[in-house]
Parts: sequence; structure tokens; C-alpha cells
Amino acid sequence: MKSRVYRQWDDGFVVRRMTRQDAEKAILWYTSICATSVDLQVVLDVRGDDADIDGFYVGELNGEVIASKIEFVVADGLSYGSMFYVDERYRNSGLGRRINDVARDVTESTSGNTVGIDAHDELEAVNMRRGYKTAFAVTQFTGKVLQPDDTAGNSGSAIREVNDL
Ligand SMILES: CC(C)(COP(=O)(O)OP(=O)(O)OC[C@H]1O[C@@H](n2cnc3c(N)ncnc32)[C@H](O)[C@@H]1OP(=O)(O)O)[C@@H](O)C(=O)NCCC(=O)NCCS
Repeated sequence: MKSRVYRQWDDGFVVRRMTRQDAEKAILWYTSICATSVDLQVVLDVRGDDADIDGFYVGELNGEVIASKIEFVVADGLSYGSMFYVDERYRNSGLGRRINDVARDVTESTSGNTVGIDAHDELEAVNMRRGYKTAFAVTQFTGKVLQPDDTAGNSGSAIREVNDL
């Protein structure tokens, strides 16, 4: 697949189209923070290797892939954003903002769609500065669901308690 370059900077940072091989790295990164990161593989399978479709980005610094972002059309008027990630070694130096800006600019100049994202709480202020409005909050539980015992008989549900791991 042709990996189109969207933007490049004098310090060696490049934002280009994500290939399937790049996606494997992005999925590995994102798996630590999001259980559905493998969805990207499905989306790229549907997209196909040769498709000239915008919305899938990686940031490369001097040839090394160090950032990811997707923001692609999912319905008339609506795009979906996710997989926003910068390698720990390069955080807080503006590279996340750059790849986000490229995604936003491509969306604005191609579809003009409204963009929906789901984001961690700590990024809410940043996202509001970028023009997003908060629509809902999600509570994520971790732990294991206990099996009901024979004497319970009162809840009507198998979910009785969630323990922290
Ligand atoms: C979130 C992440 C992609 C930001 O990348 P980055 O290169 O460090 O970000 P930048 O230096 O370009 O900063 C971009 C903006 O995010 C803010 N920001 C960066 N990290 C932040 C954090 N941990 N908490 C709150 N704000 C943060 C910056 O202040 C900046 O705000 P501004 O543009 O309004 O000035 C990076 O910290 C990361 O990969 N985190 C782990 C994965 C993750 O949480 N992804 C988002 C899931 S919703």
C-alpha cells in the first residue's frame, strides 16, 4: 500500500498514512489502555491494502514509528477518532498535537464531518480546547465476576461483586 505523506517538519517528524504493519504496532501500544484496540485490524481488513482512503495516520521520527491516530468517516456527517498515542519517550513535546492537527485538517478539508471520540478523563480539558463537547462519561470496571452460590437465590443476576485486581 502506498504510504502517503500528509505533513513533514524540519526536525524529522513526518505524519503519513498507516500501513497494516504500522497498525500492529499501534494495536500493541493501545492494548494497554483499551480492550477494543484490535478493532483497528478489522477496519484495515475492510479498508484493504491498496485503498486510497484518509483517516489512518502514524507519526514517524527519523524513520521510527512513534505515534498513531485514526479519524475516519463512519457515517454521513460523522467521523470517529481513536488510537491517539505517542511513544512514552517522546511525550509532552508537541508531537501528539501535530498528528491530531493533521487528522483534524484532513477531516475538515475532505468531509467536514462532526467527529466523535472517546477519551480519558485527563484529556477532557485538552479536547474541550480543541472544540469538542463532552457528551457522556464511561465507568470502566476491572476484576472478575464471582460465580453465584447455591444459597444466593435473591438477586436474579450472576453479577454479585466486582473485585479490584
Ligand atoms: C495523550 C498523548 C497522545 C499526548 O501526546 P503528547 O505528544 O504527549 O501531547 P502534546 O505534547 O502534543 O500535547 C498535546 C496537548 O495534550 C496535553 N497533554 C498531553 N499529555 C497530557 C496528559 N497526560 N494529561 C493532560 N493533558 C495532556 C498538552 O498539555 C497539550 O495541550 P494543548 O495542546 O492544549 O496545549 C500521550 O500522552 C499518550 O500517548 N498517552 C497515552 C495514551 C493515551 O492516553 N491516549 C489517549 C487515549 S484517550
